[in-house]
Amino acid sequence: MKKKEKSIFKCQSCGYQCPQWMGKCPDCGGWDTLVAERQNALLGSKGAGGQTFARPVPMDSIQFEEEPRSQTQIKEFDRVLGGGIVPGTLVLIGGDPGIGKSTLMLQVLAKLSAAGKKTLYVSGEESIRQLKMRGKRLAAESNAMLVAAETDLDAILAMAEQEKPDAMVVDSIQTVYNPDIASTPGSVTQIREASMRLMSMAKKTGIPVFLVGHVTKVGAIAGPRIMEHMVDTVLYFEGDRSHVFRILRAVKNRFGSTNEIGVFEMKEKGLAEVPNPSAVFLSERPVNTPGSVVTASMEGTRPILVEIQGLASSSGFGTPRRTVLGLDHNRVALIAAVMEKRLGMNLSGLDIFMNVAGGVKVTEPAADLGIAIALASSFLDRPVPEGTTVLGEVGLTGEIRAVSHGEQRIKEAVKMGFTRCLVPENSLKQVPEIKGIQIQGVSSLKQIMALVF
Ligand code: TYD
Ligand code: MG
Repeated sequence: MKKKEKSIFKCQSCGYQCPQWMGKCPDCGGWDTLVAERQNALLGSKGAGGQTFARPVPMDSIQFEEEPRSQTQIKEFDRVLGGGIVPGTLVLIGGDPGIGKSTLMLQVLAKLSAAGKKTLYVSGEESIRQLKMRGKRLAAESNAMLVAAETDLDAILAMAEQEKPDAMVVDSIQTVYNPDIASTPGSVTQIREASMRLMSMAKKTGIPVFLVGHVTKVGAIAGPRIMEHMVDTVLYFEGDRSHVFRILRAVKNRFGSTNEIGVFEMKEKGLAEVPNPSAVFLSERPVNTPGSVVTASMEGTRPILVEIQGLASSSGFGTPRRTVLGLDHNRVALIAAVMEKRLGMNLSGLDIFMNVAGGVKVTEPAADLGIAIALASSFLDRPVPEGTTVLGEVGLTGEIRAVSHGEQRIKEAVKMGFTRCLVPENSLKQVPEIKGIQIQGVSSLKQIMALVF
């Protein structure tokens, strides 16, 4: 009898190893993530001997030419990618089901096809007739765009190598599978296998590949987190399904900056770009109403004005509620505590609700002052004067701390018709005089309260 090969079981999600198979990884808690790997194969990969190594070379001797990126002409999409599509990259597009990932990718390919590029859309979720229906609705029909309904990994790879498209989409990675592997489609093992082989195909052929991935409720792309490490770029398509706005955000990008966002609007005929998000996010803003203030938030390289809303109301129950949407829960709690202590506002007994209008998420500390003023405005039941905007970080002693990109933020406010901006005293130095707006420095919460209300 053949000698039994010794295997160890390795978690495909976190790398935990054990000698025996288990249904649940004891380390990361992932289900069905332990997969047998041959022990000697593992040893070999550590360089057990007889291997040839790639020789390190001096950095300046490497021949390098920047490869031209292809532009999709959808500016919001190109910017998030860092200036267009890099040849041979693997991009993961995650998002909740129904948010518009398939729509976005079909539109991207349609734009490329219209510019004379050959594209391939492989769907494991829809039939080609369904794709046609969607294409018709989006006016995305072109004979330079090939579509296929396929889930077999080998078939997809063969298709790509034969057709050699200029860009391809695999929708979704959870449906792709290799029948030689015993796990079901969508399992960690299958997703890992598919991503790895698509990655090596992309690198070998130079075809940029976009993988669509569904996101689970907890926010991770369903399946292994390791997929995020494997791909070059991870984009999240987010937004509230009940709102029309969608935000495309880069969370990892080997070829550009992260934190860039692209803003889209879901319309009857697909997604439309929103070139001036500030105008859109402020369009429904109530004027002269307590509990609302505008602040400028940096999204990557771009300032965007957002409306922060606060509501402090008396609590009906024992423990007051803190409900926060679009902002960091902890920052809101911190600012409320500072206001209570430094301004003597009795917020601890009240329910506090905070929201950023339009379904946007703001996480930077420069929005602190916006939170404080919105909350104070609701507490005092006094509106923030029209044309006034604020920006600054709030410290624990009630001091207002400097923020970055002051000039850019204020210029955006001027563009949207604001006439007065309250900024941290320490940021004043970096900000030149700007026509059309009165810039005032503030150093403490107490001081700004006196200036605004
Ligand atoms: P879809 O791209 O199928 O989402 P995903 O691939 O992320 O699951 O988009 C689905 C939603 O988008 C659907 O609920 C309807 C809406 N939609 C429009 O409003 N207009 C359109 O032109 C299209 C194609 C979809
Ligand atoms: Mg889809």
